[in-house]
This record gives sequence, C-alpha cells and structure tokens, in this order.
Amino acid sequence: MESLKPLAAAPLPIGVFDSGVGGLTVLRALRAALPAESYLYLGDTARLPYGTKSEHTVARYALQAADELVERGIKCLVVACNTASAAALPALQQRYPELPVIGVIEPGARAACAASRNGRIAVLATESTVRAGAYTRAIARVRPDAEVTAIACALFVALAEEGWTEGAVAKAAAERYLAPLRAGGAGASDALVLGCTHFPVLLPVIVAAAGARVRIVDSAATTAAEVSSLLAARALLRPAAAGAPSLRFLATDAVSRFAAVGGRFLGTPIEAADVELIDL
Ligand code: DGL
Repeated sequence: MESLKPLAAAPLPIGVFDSGVGGLTVLRALRAALPAESYLYLGDTARLPYGTKSEHTVARYALQAADELVERGIKCLVVACNTASAAALPALQQRYPELPVIGVIEPGARAACAASRNGRIAVLATESTVRAGAYTRAIARVRPDAEVTAIACALFVALAEEGWTEGAVAKAAAERYLAPLRAGGAGASDALVLGCTHFPVLLPVIVAAAGARVRIVDSAATTAAEVSSLLAARALLRPAAAGAPSLRFLATDAVSRFAAVGGRFLGTPIEAADVELIDL
C-alpha cells in the first residue's frame, strides 16, 4: 500500500495587533521590510480606544487579543500599539516564553534618540501611554541625559479613525496639542516621536504645527527592522519555496468599516472578504 507523505507544516504568519487600524501603519513597514512573510493582523475595534482606559483594562484586552493570535498559530507577535506595549509587554513576554514578542516603544525610543541632537525629545501619545511613563523610561535607557516632554493627544485617535487627517479640525487639534512645543516647556525639542500607531496618518498637520526644525519619527520602520533581525537570528524567516504569502485580518467589530478605513493606514486597499469578524 502506498504510504501517505506527512503534510509539510505551513509556515506560520507573523501576528500583529492593535486596538484598531493604527497598527496597520506598522504592518505596512513590516511588509516593506519582510515582503515574503505571511501576516495575521487583529484590530480590537469593538473596544477601541485603549488609550483612555486604565492600564489594567488595556493589559487584559491585550492578553485576550494575543491569546487569539497564538491559538491560530503565529511565529512571532508584534504589539503594534504603544498603549498595549506600555501596559502589557512584560506580561505578554512572560505568558509566551517561547514566542518572540516585540513591542513598539523601545524601537520608537531608539528612533527618537537617533533623531535628536540636543537630547530634548517630545512624545505624542495616548493618555494611557503618557501616564505609564513608558517612553520616558525607554528613552532614558538609551540616552540617560535626555529631557522628555510627553503630550497626551487622545483626539488624534478619533480623527485618524474618522479619516479626518487634514482640514480645519485636524489642524486645530494639532496646533492645540503642540502648543507647548512652541511656547516654552518643550520649546527646545528638536525631535518628536509619534508614540501612537494611529498618528502617522496625521503627519502633515503634525509637521505643520511642530515647525520645520523638529524631526518627526515613528516606531514603524525601527520595529520592522527589529523583527527582521530577530527572525533572521532565530532562523524563522519564511523560506522562498513556501509559495505566496498570505495577508489576513481579524476585527472585533464592523468588518466593512475596518476594510474601508484600514486601507488608508496600510497604504493598500483591504477587501472586506479578507477580514473575519471575531469575538474575544
Ligand atoms: N494605536 C494605539 C497606540 O499605538 C492607541 C489607539 C487607542 O487609543 O486605542 O497607542
């Protein structure tokens, strides 16, 4: 009798999650750095925003989102949400000791330190990330003499999700939030880090409000570079012979809205058929 050949295990995707569509800005950088990889993205849209909630609640949500991805099979977890990275990264790393788990705050802090000449760094983030002091600590680890001014910009998340990334309302919000950059406090900051993965889509209004002398960075590219070297070091890169990579999405609410809004963050259209509605 002909013996059955064992099925080759399908190479696992990289798992990525955020409270909503913001983490798609990180997925965009990951796909640019690692185009041969498969990705499984989870947006916890039903419970967004995370940024105005307590650290305890965000950590609970983050563990549930990660459990869902781990259950489906991933080879690496990217926490593409600063708020969840600030509240839950050590807990996630402890829960899955075998799985590489990468957050966005350390890479964002490194990008900010590399961009700043005078060591005065402004951080725009959610209320929860600012309250947790995560960027201040991460920047101090890289550059102990740095002076960090963190500004909570909760409305930016709503504007980004709503697609109001330019025009009078976005401009007024950016001017109001960034006023300390022009008026003393963080007046001498020469680098500004977008410490929330929703904020890169607001870049033009943030640049206009910050002024041309401030260098603006986000954690997407540095996170992608870190994932790339980590997978290479652990021999986890997807073999070229594995065929075409897959790109799938999970959302905890309104699949059609996720697809419509998400395309702007990912930089490429998302088909509603590629998004699965899940309950955590
Ligand atoms: N995108 C998330 C972050 O990077 C926050 C958005 C939210 O408040 O849910 O912090």
